[in-house]
Amino acid sequence: MDKFVIEGGHRLCGRVKISGAKNGSLAMMPAVLLAPGVYHLKNTPNLRDVWTMSRLLGSMGVFCELNDNNLFMDASQIKSYEAPYEHVKMMRASFYVLGPLVARYGTAKVSLPGGCAWGPRPVDLHLKGLEKLGAEISIENGYVVAKAEKLKGAKFHFDISSVGATGNIMMAATLAQGTTLLTNAAIEPEITSLARMLVKMGAKIEGIGTSQLIIDGVAELHPVDDETIPDRIEAATFLIAAAMTGGRIELEHTNPYHLASVLQKLEESGCNIDVTSDNILLEMDNEPKPVDITTSVYPGIPTDIQAQWLAFMLKANGISKIIDTIYTDRFKHVPELRRLGANIDLQENTAIVQGGKQLSGATVMSSDLRASASLILAALIAEGQSEVLRVYHIDRGYENIEKKLTSLGAVIKRVKTDLI
Ligand code: EPZ
Repeated sequence: MDKFVIEGGHRLCGRVKISGAKNGSLAMMPAVLLAPGVYHLKNTPNLRDVWTMSRLLGSMGVFCELNDNNLFMDASQIKSYEAPYEHVKMMRASFYVLGPLVARYGTAKVSLPGGCAWGPRPVDLHLKGLEKLGAEISIENGYVVAKAEKLKGAKFHFDISSVGATGNIMMAATLAQGTTLLTNAAIEPEITSLARMLVKMGAKIEGIGTSQLIIDGVAELHPVDDETIPDRIEAATFLIAAAMTGGRIELEHTNPYHLASVLQKLEESGCNIDVTSDNILLEMDNEPKPVDITTSVYPGIPTDIQAQWLAFMLKANGISKIIDTIYTDRFKHVPELRRLGANIDLQENTAIVQGGKQLSGATVMSSDLRASASLILAALIAEGQSEVLRVYHIDRGYENIEKKLTSLGAVIKRVKTDLI
């Protein structure tokens, strides 16, 4: 197992190319189950979660090959409509195969995702939506079994705006008989890019980019070539790292439009920011100011940067409030940050940060992907050396993070360890 050994106190400066979005690729890959043939997804990040989805699709008969961020998938020979527990337990996004399978093959057996590091993450909206389209859903031995001779278009309102459920139901509705109207659908860029890929495959979808989607079912779809959007969460993580270290960074191959809410908060904290169509330049030559955030669905502040922002606020002299409205108990990073000397008071879904105190290096443990990112950021500003354990969490969602940080002047090493 790997750990990171990090020496704090180095200013981050330079250019970094942002990878394709993990959550973009994970939304698009299951779409190949909707139509036989060969697909090519450019700008696919080389990440553990992409490998997990490739293995899952592979177990169904999809040949997947990732070469230099080019993902080739051949879905001509689907032989199984089952997503086994061994895959789904590794990654919740595996559940996104349910909609395409039942829509195309009329049957699917998909393991329920099970627990998550930071608390309950139900899939009731996925199931309710498919039932609305006429699927018969039962839960047997920890598996969702879905059956439908032919899905039928229907109206479905999402009680909560859900990225995963929107993707699942939207994919299913593309092959349903008749028209589906989805309201309060998620509008995250990863869902918009999936919708655009489905239209390229021959689907009929109106209202893309809005929370109201009208999908006219078609008899069949066809394979396409497409490209994964840049990773807005990776981009935000690097911008925050530069701001925390008083650095100067230029992000290449990113989409500033997807980060508008985060860029505004960074400016409020004292950063100077310049953007062009696919580049962001950030310079921080002031002491950061404390800035509160409240997470929400897109285009608000994403919950996936909450932990990184909290780490940043440890540097800002004064009090700041971090509220997570999407995952109310997504604060597993807090006890670990306290090991570095952080002063954080947790009250339900709110962290109250007393920032400005110098952190000191220590050994800390990652619990999930974004929590591990916040521990790495805090270690970059801590005095002396820190060790971040269980970095397999970070490898799920960041491509070559230690190489990219080193190229910007960080002192970080990946080291094998027996410590688990
Ligand atoms: C996606 O997860 C992302 N994952 C998550 O990123 C991200 O945190 C989340 O969206 C919110 O933005 C991927 O794209 C692979 P949701 P997803 O369904 O689809 C509730 C990361 O770090 N809900 O939008 O699982 C749910 O509990 C990961 O990259 C129901 O109640 O999230 C949550 O409170 C972590 N019932 C809210 O909706 C349901 O059936 C939003 O969840 C589904 C969701």
